[in-house]
Amino acid sequence: MSMIYKIENLKKDPAALMLNETLFHNANGYIGIRSNYEEGYEPGINSIRGSYINGFYDFAEMKQAEKLYGLIEEKQTMVNVADTQGIQLYLGDEKFSMFHGEVLESRRILNMEAGYTERYIHWRSPEGREAEITIRRLTSFVRPSLFLIDYSVKALNFEGPLTFVSTHRGDVENYSDPNDPRLAAETFQHIIPEKAELDGTVSYVTSGTSKSALLVCTAVDHAVSKGKILTVLEGHGASCRIDSAIGKGETLTLHKYSIFCDSIRNADCRQTAAAELKNVRAVDVETLYREQRDYLADYWEQALLEIDGDDELECAVQYNLYQLIQSVGKDKHSNIAAKGLSGEGYEGHFFWDTEMYIQPFFTLTNPDITRTLISYRYATLHEARKNARLLGHGQGALYPWRTIMGRECSGYFPSGSAQYHINGDIAWSVVLYYLASGDLDFIAQKGGEIIFECARLWMDAGNYYQGKFHINDVTGPDEYTCLVNNNYYTNVSAQFNLSWAVKFYELLGKAGVLKTLAIKTGLSADEVAEFSRAAQNMYLPYDEKLGINPQDDSFLAKKRWDLEHTPRDKFPLLLHYHPLYLYRHQVCKQADTVLAHFIFEDAQSYETIKKSFLYYEQVTTHDSSLSSCIFSIVASKLGFHDKAYQYFGDSAKLDLFNTHGNTKDGIHTANMGGAYMAIVYGFGGLRLKETGLYFAPHLPKPWKAYRFKVHYQGSQILVEVKNSGLVFTLISGSEKTIHVYGKVCQLRDTLEAPLGC
Ligand code: BGC
Repeated sequence: MSMIYKIENLKKDPAALMLNETLFHNANGYIGIRSNYEEGYEPGINSIRGSYINGFYDFAEMKQAEKLYGLIEEKQTMVNVADTQGIQLYLGDEKFSMFHGEVLESRRILNMEAGYTERYIHWRSPEGREAEITIRRLTSFVRPSLFLIDYSVKALNFEGPLTFVSTHRGDVENYSDPNDPRLAAETFQHIIPEKAELDGTVSYVTSGTSKSALLVCTAVDHAVSKGKILTVLEGHGASCRIDSAIGKGETLTLHKYSIFCDSIRNADCRQTAAAELKNVRAVDVETLYREQRDYLADYWEQALLEIDGDDELECAVQYNLYQLIQSVGKDKHSNIAAKGLSGEGYEGHFFWDTEMYIQPFFTLTNPDITRTLISYRYATLHEARKNARLLGHGQGALYPWRTIMGRECSGYFPSGSAQYHINGDIAWSVVLYYLASGDLDFIAQKGGEIIFECARLWMDAGNYYQGKFHINDVTGPDEYTCLVNNNYYTNVSAQFNLSWAVKFYELLGKAGVLKTLAIKTGLSADEVAEFSRAAQNMYLPYDEKLGINPQDDSFLAKKRWDLEHTPRDKFPLLLHYHPLYLYRHQVCKQADTVLAHFIFEDAQSYETIKKSFLYYEQVTTHDSSLSSCIFSIVASKLGFHDKAYQYFGDSAKLDLFNTHGNTKDGIHTANMGGAYMAIVYGFGGLRLKETGLYFAPHLPKPWKAYRFKVHYQGSQILVEVKNSGLVFTLISGSEKTIHVYGKVCQLRDTLEAPLGC
C-alpha cells in the first residue's frame, strides 16, 4: 500500500495554485498552514496565504439590515495569525521563482505515512544555473505548536554564493470574497501585531486580536548546514538573511522552525513559545520525522481501511482519512471546522458536520478523540443555554448552528439558528459513543448533562396538537427548505434524544451515579416522564398515498423543481436563485429524510425507506458536499449496489478532483468522514444499536476486497470482505457477540462467513 498522493508538472495558473494550497496544506489539529510557495507567486496572482490555529478567533460585526430582536450582531471568525512561510532563495544574484527561468521537472507529494508534504523542482535559472530544490514541510502531531520547513538545494552545474532570505510577518489579513456566501464578505484586520523581538537568531512576534482580546505568539528560528545567519527586525516582524556558498554537486539545507502559541491554552504564550522552541531545537530533525512517522503508524493501525482493486479510490479514501487527523482538534478548546485548518471557507466554524459525519469515524477508530470532541460541546454547554434563552426558551440548551467558542455565528437564521436538529445530532453522537464504548462514567460526567439539556429544549420548542407532539418552524438539514413544521429528520432525532434522556436517567440511576447530575440539573422523575410521553407521541409525517415520509408538513404540496432542464451552470442553485424561490419548490440541497432513514432505520419499514429514497433522489441536487455519501449508504442498504458505488465515488474524490469547484477555500471535512461511512456503514453494513454491533457487507463489483478495523466495547475487530467470503478477526480485547446479516455470532478469535447470506 503506497500512502503517497502525488502530482507532477506543477501548473502555474491561479486556480491550480490555490487548489494546491489547500490540497497540500499541513495541519495537526492545532495549527494549519496553507501550502503557499515559500518564494511567493508573480505579482497580481491571487493567493490565500494563511496560517490558522484551531479554536482561535476574533469577533467580527455581523451586519443585520433590520434589527429584529435576538438576531446576532457579532460572530466569531478564524484568524490568519502570522506568516512564517516566506523563504527567498538566491543562486548568486538570481532569485528562484517557478515563474522565471525553466522548470525542467516538478512535483508535489503528500506522504501520509511519514506526515510531510514535499515540493520538488528541477530549475534552470535564466543565466543557466541548474539546481534541484526540495522543500519538505511538517506540522508535528507530537509537538502541535511546531511547523517545520526543511529546504534543501543541490547545485547541479554551478558553484558560488547562495543566499536565503527568510521572513516572519505579523501584518497579515484574512481572505474574503463578497460574492460567495460561503466566505467572509469583507476583509478586516483581525490580528494586530503588538511586539516584535529578537533573541539572538530567534524572532518573536506577539499579536493581539482586534476584539476578542486573545494573543498569539510566533517564534521563528533557523539552522543551516553551512553559512552565516543574521536576523533583523523588519516591519511588524523579522527578516533573516543566511549567506552561504555552494559547491558543484553539493547540497545545502536550511531548517526553518516556527512555533505557534496562543493565549487560550497558555497563560503566557510568549514564554511558552520560547520554551517549546528550545525543546524542539534540543532534538535533531530526524527525531522530528521519526516522531511523526510513529504517531501516524499508530493512527493508521487504528484507522486501517484498504481497498484491493482500485488504487485511485484507495488513495482518495486514505487522503480523506489523513485530512481528518490533520483537522480534528485534540483539546476541549477546539473541534473540526467545516474546512479543517486548510482554508477560510465558512470562517473556521464548527457545524453539525462534526457529530453526524466525522465523529462516527473517530468513535469507531479512536474513541479518545470522540471523548475530546464531546468535551468541547460540554465546555460550551453554558453558551448553548444562553442561546436557548435568546431564542425565547425558558429551559434547556440549544447549540449554535455554527460557532467557534460556543456562541451562534449564523447571520441568516432561516438556514442557520433554525436548524434545531443540531441538538439531536449532538445527542445522537453521544449515544453512538456510549453504544461503541459502554462508557457510562463519561455519560455521568459530561454526556448525560448534554442529553438532558437538549431534551429539555425539545419540550419547550414543541407542543401537543391533537395528541401528537409537534415541532414547528424549524429547518431540517436540507437548506433549500426552510422554516417548516414537523421536519421528519428533526422530529425523529428529537424523539431519539428524548428517549435516550429517559434511558440514561434509568441507567445512571441503576449504576448509582445519577444523584449529583440530577441535583446539578434539577432533573426530576416527573420531568423525565414528560420526555417519555413526548417521545412516544412524536409526530412523524407519513404520506399514505406515496408510502414515504414527507420531509415536512408542506413539502409535498410544493411545486417540483425541474432539475432535468436546469442548465448545469445554474448549480449550485444557492448561487443563482433567491432563497424564497428555492423554498417554494420541492428541491433539496442535500440528504434530509434519507439521512434520517440511515441513522434511525428502525423507525420505518424497509418499504418506506425504499420509496422515500427513490422519491428524494429525484429532487436532490447534492449541492452540499454532505449529501452523496448518505445516498450511497442508503443505496447500499436497499441493495442498489451500482448506485451506491457511484454516489460513493462522487463523495470520495470530491476534493482531490475539486468537483464542487471550491476546494481552494478548504477541504470538505464532513464529506471526508462521509466517504468513510459510505464504505463502513454502506458497503460494510455496519450499525451500532442498543442490541449490538451489526454487519451486512457486500463487495462493490470493481473491487477484489476491502478491510477495515473498528473498536467495539474495548475490543478491536478487523473486518475483511473478499470474493471468497467474510473474515472477522478479534485483534485485541475480549470476545464479542456480533450480528452478521442479522444472525447472532460469537467472535472469539476469527469468524468466517459467506458473502451476502
Ligand atoms: C450545508 C450544511 C453544512 C455546511 C458546512 C452547508 O452547505 O448545507 O449542512 O453544515 O455546509 O459544511
